[in-house]
Amino acid sequence: MKAVILVGGEGTRLRPMTIHTPKAMVPVVNRPFLEHMIEHLKAHQIRDIILALGYLPRPIQAHFNDGLAFGVKLTYIVEDTPLGTAGAVQNVASHLDGETFLVLNGDVFSDLDLTAMLAFHREKKAMVTIALTPVDDPTRYGVVETGSEGRVLRFVEKPPREEVTTNLINAGAYFLEPQILSHIPKGVFYMFEQGLFPLLLSLGAPVYGYPSQGYWIDIGTPEKYLALNRDILQGRTFCPALGRSPLNGLWLAEGCEISPLARVSGPVVLGEGCVLGAEAYVRGPAVLGPGCRLGQQVMVEEAVLWREVTVKDGAIIRGSIVGRGSIIEKGSLVEAGSVLGDGVTVERGSRVESGTRLWPEIWTGPKVSQGQD
Ligand code: GDD
Ligand code: MG
Repeated sequence: MKAVILVGGEGTRLRPMTIHTPKAMVPVVNRPFLEHMIEHLKAHQIRDIILALGYLPRPIQAHFNDGLAFGVKLTYIVEDTPLGTAGAVQNVASHLDGETFLVLNGDVFSDLDLTAMLAFHREKKAMVTIALTPVDDPTRYGVVETGSEGRVLRFVEKPPREEVTTNLINAGAYFLEPQILSHIPKGVFYMFEQGLFPLLLSLGAPVYGYPSQGYWIDIGTPEKYLALNRDILQGRTFCPALGRSPLNGLWLAEGCEISPLARVSGPVVLGEGCVLGAEAYVRGPAVLGPGCRLGQQVMVEEAVLWREVTVKDGAIIRGSIVGRGSIIEKGSLVEAGSVLGDGVTVERGSRVESGTRLWPEIWTGPKVSQGQD
């Protein structure tokens, strides 16, 4: 069984975190997101994986190489211009072997039982089986209406609220029969969501929905990205890459220097070589990437810091994402819901208001207000 993972999107909603890092590589509990997806596939004996790339392919290729070190075989196909979700699959058709295959959106973390879903797909003799998951706000997803025995009646991508008839949405995982390829135009932009699925339904093809009640999240926005890190740390979903929570709730990598006067209240993940100064306080759920340095009396709570972030004495970070190599100067405050990209400097004593998105060149949202030292 081959799987195609769609990782060509620009990750616009996750900016500025995706300026230098493709969405598939954003660290979740200090592992590139795609590692978690690969673990999930391996758990269902799927090891032959084709990555459909577009935006920022190199960090992905450089990290995974041929996949051997991760226990899988990886094939990379890079699109010159985005071909859309279905166009991307047509573009890798020569690497599919004429058998049933799996397609996954490259930004979804779930514990979907792929083995059971495949059995369902075969039992129904479906041409397409779409995994379904319930969500609170279906307007942000592809809404899938099903009839008796799971047959899909209607697929509507991001419908207005008044058109929402069910809370079951497309979970971004499909088992597909190779015949579908004859319905996808070659070399042009084409989507499953607005193109192929509605077309197959209009042709009366056997398209089925496979509802799943397990954990499911799309990490496409800062809120969801933070939520996934939090959910893993709090044990709402099991993450094989991280493993079970240590008794003290602290996953501690090698080489950390923690002042005896610092406090860590889990669940917290500290990457390699983190330094916590006297009276620094890390309150979980929180993740510090490798090489983060917290000065004295720093407070970090419910935040995700990427690698090599420096937080100087007395600074406070709450409920935010801070990109690689950023520097939070003394006595400043980063309020909950802020999203700071790579290499940002927050000036001494200033306040980053909730919801601010900051990156070195330009920023949107409220300006950083300069406060007292
Ligand atoms: N190779 C390639 N080429 N990949 C692409 C392209 C492309 O042109 N466009 C998007 N992708 C990838 C993205 O990188 C992502 O992994 C996946 O396809 C889905 O794109 P998103 O941009 O994240 O879509 P969405 O989240 O708004 O909606 C999709 O996912 C929902 C579930 O999370 C749709 O499939 C919805 O129907 C679905 O409910
Ligand atoms: Mg998405």
